[in-house]
Amino acid sequence: MAKQPRSIVVGVAGGIAAYKACHLVRDLKEHGDEVRVVPTPAALNFVGAATFEALSGNPVSTTVFDAVDEVQHVNIGQHADAVVIAPATADVIARIAAGRADDLLTATVLVATCPVIVVPAMHTEMWLNPATVENVATLRRRGITVMEPAHGRLTGKDSGPGRLPEPAQIAELVRTELDGYRIPHDWTSKKVVISAGGTQENLDPVRYLGNRSSGRQGFALAEIAAQRGAEVVIVAGNTAELPVPSGAKIRNVVSTADLEAAMAEESKDADVIIMAAAVADYRPALVADSKMKKGTADDALSSLQLVENPDVLKGLVAQRAAGELKEGVVIVGFAAETGDSTHTALEFAQAKFERKGCDVLMANEVGEGKVFGQTTSEGWILRRDSEPQVVAHGSKHVVAAQILDAVNQILS
Ligand code: CTP
Repeated sequence: MAKQPRSIVVGVAGGIAAYKACHLVRDLKEHGDEVRVVPTPAALNFVGAATFEALSGNPVSTTVFDAVDEVQHVNIGQHADAVVIAPATADVIARIAAGRADDLLTATVLVATCPVIVVPAMHTEMWLNPATVENVATLRRRGITVMEPAHGRLTGKDSGPGRLPEPAQIAELVRTELDGYRIPHDWTSKKVVISAGGTQENLDPVRYLGNRSSGRQGFALAEIAAQRGAEVVIVAGNTAELPVPSGAKIRNVVSTADLEAAMAEESKDADVIIMAAAVADYRPALVADSKMKKGTADDALSSLQLVENPDVLKGLVAQRAAGELKEGVVIVGFAAETGDSTHTALEFAQAKFERKGCDVLMANEVGEGKVFGQTTSEGWILRRDSEPQVVAHGSKHVVAAQILDAVNQILS
């Protein structure tokens, strides 16, 4: 059943990243939601009202004195299902923190009782200035979600934290909150290590054994963990096309051995370890230095000899038991299952949960185009202390939010 369109206010403040708000509006509209753009007067120095009107299909005002008969300064905020401000400048953040209502955008925020998501974009010095730091803390304390800015190229030659995250990342976060999962900023002292994507085992310089994992679920987990304020490390196999979540560190790996080594190194001081990667269970017994030829007398391709790879997840659980990991670390595994005539996918997943010994297992029923390579997922969250929690069909970000909420309950 198609979802009812939600009403989203996109606030735009006066910064160079205002042009990216156009892509955000388009993304939100393409997912079937209604968008009303409310720029600050300064934002219109960067992008014209006509552009926002054409993209949103709605009129654009900046002051409380436009369409006074419609009481816009109250109506827009009252009827919004979510307000997202992207980009949010240091100035607009300060005005919201002070409770001001001196333009239509700040008046709308003051009225809104729905989720408000502020997406900062500014120079690093402004982001790190104690005034901004305090204002951001004030907003978060009041229940406003303030996204972590991305690190990277800013206006001119500057580079550092303060860049607007990609519009698609912002849109996913907005939709996660609209689906009822608020992202608290409560993991600032936590380190989260996540494996994502799929490992590849080389056969020769041009061929490999691999799998269909896109890395989307691992990256969605990294995105939500980073927005909760955690230090996030992604150990990524074959995920080059996905945008890296704001502030997350990425370690690219190829084989299961690479992944195992990177996970062992990063996990030592981790509070949460998540094995979302689809790990190749076997690798070729021999890797040829030059391209293998077919049809030769010793054609190795026609009968590959494989050897089993180590089970990384089980290895991490064993390291914890041996006291080699941080006390209280929570370990999460995944199970990609298909049912058969003897057992359901859930029953197979429950057996795997016992075998692996982790604290949480996200079980997915795969096959028939489900989960692998998709932007959506569904399944069950298994824990030691409760019945399987059904995870309804939803975006991988919404699924990630639920997995991290389960982890948070165990942590606390
Ligand atoms: N995993 C791992 N090391 C492996 C294989 C899997 O760490 N060599 C992890 C995966 O990252 C996942 C969990 O174990 O968190 C389950 O992976 P899955 O492929 O579903 O299970 P397998 O252990 O490979 O079992 P099977 O293929 O028999 O279903």
